[in-house]
Amino acid sequence: RRIAVLFGGRSPEHDVSILSATNVMRALDPAAYDAVPVFVTREGAWRLARFDGSALETPVAGTQIALIPGGGGRLVAIDEAASGDRTYRDLPAIDLLFPVLHGLHGEDGSIQGLAEVARVPLVGCGMTGSVTVIDKDLAKRLLRDAGLPVARALVIRSGDTPSFPDVQRTLGLPLFVKPARQGSSFGVSKVTCESEYEAALAEGFRHDIKLLAEEFVEGREIECAVLQRPDGELFVSRPGEIAPAASHGFYSFEAKYIDADGAAVIVPAQLPAEVEDALRAMSAAAFEATGCDAMARVDFFLKPDMSVVINELNTIPGFTDISMYAKAMAASGVSYPQVLDALVDHALA
Ligand code: DAL
Ligand code: MG
Repeated sequence: RRIAVLFGGRSPEHDVSILSATNVMRALDPAAYDAVPVFVTREGAWRLARFDGSALETPVAGTQIALIPGGGGRLVAIDEAASGDRTYRDLPAIDLLFPVLHGLHGEDGSIQGLAEVARVPLVGCGMTGSVTVIDKDLAKRLLRDAGLPVARALVIRSGDTPSFPDVQRTLGLPLFVKPARQGSSFGVSKVTCESEYEAALAEGFRHDIKLLAEEFVEGREIECAVLQRPDGELFVSRPGEIAPAASHGFYSFEAKYIDADGAAVIVPAQLPAEVEDALRAMSAAAFEATGCDAMARVDFFLKPDMSVVINELNTIPGFTDISMYAKAMAASGVSYPQVLDALVDHALA
């Protein structure tokens, strides 16, 4: 099977995607898959990349490639000479498109729609779940409508920002301000006073035109990986726990990716059996309520009284060395190559 692995991309999670895709490339069995890495530049151009068995090349110039609408996986390479002259040549068609992109322009339904338009099977969650889950406001409404617990939040749009006293009265302190559509905690701030609120809005609006102000939920961060079998049945992993170092205050971008000791990942999380069962059931319910298919990671806060809220879902969860999805699956008896095989089977079903 010839499988194009898209990575990089236009979102601020570009570098996280490179880490994720490197692990995906390492885990795709060369005996079963002819993996074609396609680097998406920060501007959004697709370029053929090479994988040397351990690292991915990230070519910012060179052969550009295009996926043809209705082409069933047909790819065309566009070579540009120094003179500016272009030549077009067919590349072997791909059987599957696997976006390993995080955030906007990759995890948000856009590439998933492109796969539909191109008529090529897509590895991972399709359009509906991608669109709903990327937007924390839409996701929250669907979860709430399904009777699932979420943190209280206010939607803030630029040009219509509630005053600090109003937000504080509704949500209490501290609170979080986060872009509605952003991953890896980019643009997320913890707010304890008015000046921090103003700064948090400015930072949030650098990332999105819609923000959420959300109540602070005191609790442990627990995540479950969901994998849908080709027959539609859901497999939910054992929960894992992320324990951010106290110095970081919350599981920020720095705690995730910059500081090697920023957070501990504990899989499986040490939980009473009935709590684990409830989290797994809730993961499946959240997956279905938001229209997900194939794959997603469901993130929770577990309060000291053992009640939970769903923080968010991610339809292209990180596959970096520190990421939970593969670790939680492995702790549940499903190896990383088995996850990839299952996703491919799902895509072709
Ligand atoms: N958005 C990052 C990659 C994650 O959820 O793992
Ligand atoms: Mg996320």
